[in-house]
Amino acid sequence: MSPISHTLTVALGDRSYDILIGTGILPMLGAECRKRLKCQRIGVVSNETVAPLHLDRTRDSLEQAGFAVTPIILPDGESHKNWLTLQKIFDALIEHRFERGDLLLALGGGVIGDMTGFAAACYQRGVAFVQVPTTLLAQVDASVGGKTGINHPLGKNLIGAFHQPTLVLMDVATLETLPEREFRAGLAEVIKYGILWDREMFAQIETHLEAILARDPAWLIALLRRSCEIKAEIVAMDEREHGARALLNLGHTFGHAIESLTGYDTWLHGEAVAAGTVAACHLAERIGICSPQDSRRIQTLIKNSGLPTRLPDYPIDHYLAAMIHDKKVAQGKIRLVLPEGIGRSVVRGDVTQADLAAALTTGME
Ligand code: NAD
Ligand code: GLY
Repeated sequence: MSPISHTLTVALGDRSYDILIGTGILPMLGAECRKRLKCQRIGVVSNETVAPLHLDRTRDSLEQAGFAVTPIILPDGESHKNWLTLQKIFDALIEHRFERGDLLLALGGGVIGDMTGFAAACYQRGVAFVQVPTTLLAQVDASVGGKTGINHPLGKNLIGAFHQPTLVLMDVATLETLPEREFRAGLAEVIKYGILWDREMFAQIETHLEAILARDPAWLIALLRRSCEIKAEIVAMDEREHGARALLNLGHTFGHAIESLTGYDTWLHGEAVAAGTVAACHLAERIGICSPQDSRRIQTLIKNSGLPTRLPDYPIDHYLAAMIHDKKVAQGKIRLVLPEGIGRSVVRGDVTQADLAAALTTGME
């Protein structure tokens, strides 16, 4: 039996690609790349934390399939998701004379995935890239859908490009080395799918939270599969975020504000999304589109997952100034994704400053 449990496809015409999900499938990476790619050289972009853990097996698999591998090792952390670090990727590619037909491969979490994808979108006006996500957050979200980019001191992910990968391979076994706090941060994005799209999935997480937090492999595979199915479906219908894809930003307008206000080095992305989702619940309840019962269930699940439910204490006008840099802002108006209950969300551009300020105050520490 193949150790690949599920093969999903992101259906985007001639840019369609597979997501391979399984346990212990990293050794199959080289063969799976070989099936899809003619190139000979691969720049494997990773960081100082992930490389010692997973680079050797990645490299062995690629070399066994006949690829020549150049590791490109970056500093670790969201605060390095910037121009300076991106430049290090370009330096290595130019120094090693990478050509347009060569490939980049991201081995790491969402930070490595987003930066590698952006480098691939720009280098020689675009080269192919493969995602090998090694955090729960990157597996359920960041590695799928082709959003790539870097942060700006004034706002999160403000500089970037849409550039779809050629293949995404996620090995649940790589999560064995993931620290507990990072695992829980990833769970925030899984819960997000339940809130915005799938009430049944939300209820399953509530019921089986203990097994999920214990990283039961069967549950991890099930959550990866359902999360990636939902993301693939939404990306296929709205790749460039003109409509439904914006829903995937539930909790993110508040969350990105937390990340930029705290300088990208205190809160994890998933933690900021969790607290941002609770703020979105307060607002949705306040304007009467989400029942107190559903709002309470969402807040309880986030809390029981060991995730923050309160926003850090900053003046309201600092939040508003940070939120105005959000990419969903249209004609100067903040647009927010709000839950209409568990399983349904909506984008609202008509929230008054007073309601927003009240929700921020309610949600604060
Ligand atoms: P991350 O990439 O910083 O990884 C978290 C930490 O875990 C890092 O210290 C990393 O080195 C370490 N790590 C990674 N894999 C490991 C492993 N297997 N074992 C031990 N340590 C490991 O953070 P993240 O949570 O993976 O991703 C967050 C980033 O993803 C943010 O920048 C966010 O903007 C981005 N994101 C992008 C999208 C998208 O659609 N492109 C979606 C969601 C999030
Ligand atoms: N993580 C949001 C998106 O991919 O659209």
